[in-house]
Amino acid sequence: MTVNRGKSTGKNLGVLISGRGTNLQSILDAVSAGRLDARIAIVISNREDAAGLERARGAGVDTLVLDHRAHESREAYDAELIDALQSRQVDLVCLAGFMRILSPAFIEAFPNRILNIHPSLLPAFPGINPPYQAWEHGVKISGATVHLVDESLDGGPIVRQEALEVLASDTAESLAARILEIEHRIYPEAIAHVLRGGWRIEGRRFVRQEAG
Ligand code: GRF
Repeated sequence: MTVNRGKSTGKNLGVLISGRGTNLQSILDAVSAGRLDARIAIVISNREDAAGLERARGAGVDTLVLDHRAHESREAYDAELIDALQSRQVDLVCLAGFMRILSPAFIEAFPNRILNIHPSLLPAFPGINPPYQAWEHGVKISGATVHLVDESLDGGPIVRQEALEVLASDTAESLAARILEIEHRIYPEAIAHVLRGGWRIEGRRFVRQEAG
């Protein structure tokens, strides 16, 4: 199956992953189903054993492994990332479980053109393993956030959020699984929204522009 054919606005996505790639899969599926009018120009992983690479290859999407351990500094690594994305005319960078902090130079290369999906209602529980943090803290509501990426850790303008109730019967694992279902739905929708335009940034707010 090839997902990169058919009608397209001509917008190119670059998806960065480090692991299993279920969010990548949701983007591949949305493109394939015509719910996301874009082309996935490249999937890049910093780990060659990332299962998400197989998902991309299976869909006929180009992949690239850039191993961070082969670079002497974050800046040197990010310079290669920038080059790989720019040489494929990537319009929007989608982080999908990419376990690396990006340098200021990377953020500057794609201003307001990097999206991330995070499994908590930011600004609560940034950082590592948010569903566990939320469950352990005992919050009654959690969810997922899609946000633009800036220099802060998981702190850029919020594009989309969806909440769920934490159940008394939830374990950290069951909570993570239910949040993941939300992620798979809202990430492709948020990517489509960002690509369509009709929004602006006010302060740190992502604001939908009024029509007309
Ligand atoms: C997801 O929970 C995502 O929100 C977080 O990392 C995880 C990646 O999972 N940033 P997957 O590789 O997309 O399955």
